[in-house]
Amino acid sequence: MKAAILYETGKPRPYTETQPLQIEEVYLSAPLQEEVLIKIHAAGICHSDLSVIDGSRPRPLPMVIGHEAAGEVVECGAGVDDLKTGDHVVFSFVPACGHCIPCMTGRPALCEPGAAANTKGILLNGSVRLKNVSLRDLQHHLGVSAFAEYAVVSRRSLVKINADISYAVAALFGCAVLTGVGAVINTAKLNAGQTVLVVGLGGVGLAALLGALAGGAATVIAADINADKRTVALAMGAHYVLDPADPEAVQQIKDITGGGADIAVEFAGAVKALDFAYASTKRGGVTVTAGLPHPSVSFALSPALLVGEERTLKGSYLGSCIPARDIPAFIALHLSGRLPVERLLSHTIGLHEINEGVERLAAGAALRQIISFT
Ligand SMILES: NC(=O)c1ccc[n+]([C@@H]2O[C@H](COP(=O)([O-])OP(=O)(O)OC[C@H]3O[C@@H](n4cnc5c(N)ncnc54)[C@H](O)[C@@H]3O)[C@@H](O)[C@H]2O)c1
Ligand SMILES: [Zn+2]
Ligand SMILES: [Zn+2]
Repeated sequence: MKAAILYETGKPRPYTETQPLQIEEVYLSAPLQEEVLIKIHAAGICHSDLSVIDGSRPRPLPMVIGHEAAGEVVECGAGVDDLKTGDHVVFSFVPACGHCIPCMTGRPALCEPGAAANTKGILLNGSVRLKNVSLRDLQHHLGVSAFAEYAVVSRRSLVKINADISYAVAALFGCAVLTGVGAVINTAKLNAGQTVLVVGLGGVGLAALLGALAGGAATVIAADINADKRTVALAMGAHYVLDPADPEAVQQIKDITGGGADIAVEFAGAVKALDFAYASTKRGGVTVTAGLPHPSVSFALSPALLVGEERTLKGSYLGSCIPARDIPAFIALHLSGRLPVERLLSHTIGLHEINEGVERLAAGAALRQIISFT
């Protein structure tokens, strides 16, 4: 099959010239115990893929990247008795073992064996199923490796969905929607009537904006340094849009909300954006960060403010979701018309155009781009 392989990180832009991803023929082994062979139909390009390419999210190489996708079951390995050929699935980018303390306490996004496997670039059972033509092992990206025609993954990386939604839209639920909507609903625990600030309006932030509206926020303010993204957010229903680089922006948010947003969620992956979100949160409010800057980056915070204003700062991974519960729930909300996430789709491309897609994302000229394999 064909797959996009990353051999080297940190290549300079433009990626249309330096071509960080090589499309090659690769070998994929058959599914073993508790594994499933999936035909990928649609895969989205997320900033977390770009972060592996540019080195800000270090991973073992070479790797077949891509983690947001939907596809169809082709073959189940031994021991998989709850999926069958032809079933539609969405991938979850944290395989959940089901046995560790986080899994058993309703926090599968923090699954310990899942996180260890993802860091090593292997499947949950420790195996690697991909090889290039020189028979060199290729690492898996977050247990998925979606920029490929097929994938063999752990059963625990899959959520079965009904066939009443297109693969392109279904793919979005694997990362952008799960992360964005989950950060607002599960991590921040939005209550109806609250004010929400969303900082960073890429695929994930715009999904959060839609989630805040669906979840009953009274006022949603959207902020991005990119004016085009602000225009999109306004069209998607944001009540106000702001440029965080404007020195008046924090004060404007305080004026609009009467002292600051109840909830501020950050999806930019930049400390400046988190600073802005924190400064714009009201006394007693909740600031959530889901952006992923380089691990060496740190964020300064005043303990006096944290204490004296009873603030909460929370990280959000996988939207604090239980994917097997929340992917079908968010799809149901979408099908009822209250979560129009199809509006996140900005480009549909072929696998051979992937470097162009990654460059477009890096340039801030795309929302969610879907690689279509059908
Ligand atoms: N926590 C998780 O589980 C999880 C899952 C997926 C993605 N992510 C991370 O979320 C972030 C967003 O992902 P995406 O795919 O939507 O990315 P994207 O590149 O599509 O969007 C990021 C947006 O942030 C904006 N931005 C950059 N600097 C800013 C600043 N200082 N202030 C305001 N806006 C700023 C950009 O203009 C862009 O519109 C990335 O860091 C990604 O790695 C986290
Ligand atoms: Zn992602
Ligand atoms: Zn676990």
